[in-house]
Amino acid sequence: SPVPAADIVVFGGTGDLAVRKLLPALYLRDRDGQLPPTTRIVATSRAGLDEDGYRDKIRGDLPAFVRPEELDDAVLTRFIARLTHVSLDIADDDSWPALARELPDAEKVRVFYLAIAPSLFGTVSEQLDRHGMVTPQSRLVLEKPLGHDLASALAINDAVGAVFEEQQIFRIDHYLGKESVQNLLVTRFANTFLEPLWNATSVDHVQITAAESLGVGSRGGYYDGSGALRDMVQNHLLQLLCLVAMEPPTYVGRETVRDEKLKVLQALKPITGTDVDDHVVAGQYQAGLAQGAAVASYREDAERPGSVTETFVAIKAEVQNWRWAGVPFYLRTGKRMEERCSEIVIQFRSVPHPMFPDAEGTSEPNRLVIQLQPEEGMKLHLTAKEPGPGGIRLRPVSLDLNYAQTFQKHSPEAYERLLMDVVRGNPTLFMRRDEVEAAWRWIEPIHERWARPEHAPRRYPAGTSGPFAATTLIERDGRSWHE
Ligand code: BG6
Repeated sequence: SPVPAADIVVFGGTGDLAVRKLLPALYLRDRDGQLPPTTRIVATSRAGLDEDGYRDKIRGDLPAFVRPEELDDAVLTRFIARLTHVSLDIADDDSWPALARELPDAEKVRVFYLAIAPSLFGTVSEQLDRHGMVTPQSRLVLEKPLGHDLASALAINDAVGAVFEEQQIFRIDHYLGKESVQNLLVTRFANTFLEPLWNATSVDHVQITAAESLGVGSRGGYYDGSGALRDMVQNHLLQLLCLVAMEPPTYVGRETVRDEKLKVLQALKPITGTDVDDHVVAGQYQAGLAQGAAVASYREDAERPGSVTETFVAIKAEVQNWRWAGVPFYLRTGKRMEERCSEIVIQFRSVPHPMFPDAEGTSEPNRLVIQLQPEEGMKLHLTAKEPGPGGIRLRPVSLDLNYAQTFQKHSPEAYERLLMDVVRGNPTLFMRRDEVEAAWRWIEPIHERWARPEHAPRRYPAGTSGPFAATTLIERDGRSWHE
């Protein structure tokens, strides 16, 4: 559907997220003709920049964050001309009228994108209200982390909810903007052959992995107060789990998908007390080798010598409902792993009866692998007969779908899709208040257990697949991680 003209205000306009992700995504939408001529982008920050200073900065920075073949001088010039900058001290009342002056048209769609610390979400909402900038056509975009625990998430939701209606609030989980994640819905619900098998009768277990090869880099300040459970599991991994496990909605609409995801979160079996020790593994990377190069430990990277923050988590979760009773969902995510690889594996049950007892070779259970990163694709692992005139020889083979090859184009970046959905006012791919709160409610007892002084994450060398305990977590059930 067409994208209306908008005034897009980016708080944190000189920050990492704006420069690396948001502005490049908007540039690419401009290149594809999706930004009407009157769409403007107002960046705010405390940097004492004027309009020209900001434009020069972005003209210099942006090319590094798009592919060379996507750069077009004429488009870049057109895009840069949409930008302006307002120096804003959020706490200082007097600096807000300058922003209000940049938003003269009350009928136009307004997007307030908060790429700033969540502790400021409430204050910014209040200030926007006090200075008369919140119109019926306004939308508020919140970046993660949405709080630190359930109480702080409730406080943020209350504070922004005092100014904006729920349907004006867009909580970003950029995993929902990934093509392969949206394709998961299409694969499940636009085909007939999978859905009859998509349940405890046929599925043995599910694995969801998001492994990164990078360390925490310069984000140690934020990361040390967060850790992998808050940074990746509370949002991205649980959202993926929801899309795998949810019931088919009657149609894909603004609330229907979110209603179904919420039911999954509510059906997650709580992991509390000593169960945490059995079902959850925390790890922290030590110095090691990443792609052949020596790299430092997490504690050195983050400059936190005694830190017990986890950079790896593995969890055995369960969804307590009719469809999934007894089917484990193994989740894992980590930094400084062997390689960057994110995928969802649906492993089906073994055949009920061995039909080829004398055959050579091996038969493995069927697996559907949905790859999110580094390449987007899907693989279906089957057992086939190896061609040959002798007896039967079984061979595991796979049907492969590689997105880039099949569609002959790159998938757009998650933020491109999500930003346009915000402007259109379509909340389907954003987290609703009740979802965020339900996810925190499930995470909280794990943090409570970890708050005991004797808790320490297990060590794993950088460049490996995580602590040994994560292997044990799945192998003691007679299963293994998909490599
Ligand atoms: C972010 C986390 O939400 O997701 C980062 O804060 C993480 O720590 C990133 O690196 C991973 O995103 P992607 O799209 O690279 O898998």
